[in-house]
Amino acid sequence: MKDFVIIGHKALTTGDFSLNDLPGSAGRMDILCRCVNSALFLSHGMRRDVNVHLLLLGEPDPGKIIRFNGEKLKYLNPDERSSGSLIKKALQKSSTPYETQSTPGVWIRRAGLEELLNEFDEAGRDIFYLKEDGENIREYEDLKEDAVFILGDHTGVTEEEEKMIEKVAKKTLKIGPMSLHSDHCIIIIHNELDRREA
Ligand SMILES: C[S@@+](CC[C@H](N)C(=O)[O-])C[C@H]1O[C@@H](n2cnc3c(N)ncnc32)[C@H](O)[C@@H]1O
Repeated sequence: MKDFVIIGHKALTTGDFSLNDLPGSAGRMDILCRCVNSALFLSHGMRRDVNVHLLLLGEPDPGKIIRFNGEKLKYLNPDERSSGSLIKKALQKSSTPYETQSTPGVWIRRAGLEELLNEFDEAGRDIFYLKEDGENIREYEDLKEDAVFILGDHTGVTEEEEKMIEKVAKKTLKIGPMSLHSDHCIIIIHNELDRREA
């Protein structure tokens, strides 16, 4: 599996939001919804070898992780309202440190960035931090099929988060010379891996 982690600093942590206002009262949930779509959808199919971890750090109960698992996922269509609706359903479940499945292939638990990073690290996974001033991904040869990629949201990554990530990351990578939206970065990362696997 490839894993994508997106840090949603403002993303609301209750299911109490309107699908009509994902960018506003839901705390830029639109960004996370687009990341889910970019990570999972192909033109006529789904990438079954992908997990997307949405780290929700907004009010009122920060520190929840929603995981979309491409292998088991059902009921996801390629529009923001569809992923928003699955996130909303997940947030309506009471969350514990153990994952609970809310709908097929969508899981929720109470956890933070440090825990998630440590889990990947302990599992021996290669963790890559995506940042504008990293090493050029095109020239980086050691990318495996089961890599983990960590991305920020519209506010990027805080200094404290960056310290945690750098402790376990194999490398900081940039995907090009411009600062892009997180969902666009995910498409480019997939493209890099697709070309190498082809
Ligand atoms: C919209 S950007 C963040 C913008 C910027 N860092 C800021 O705070 O103003 C969202 C995320 O996409 C990733 N990203 C954007 N452009 C990138 C690039 N050229 N190379 C690698 N990662 C990039 C980073 O993980 C970043 O945190």
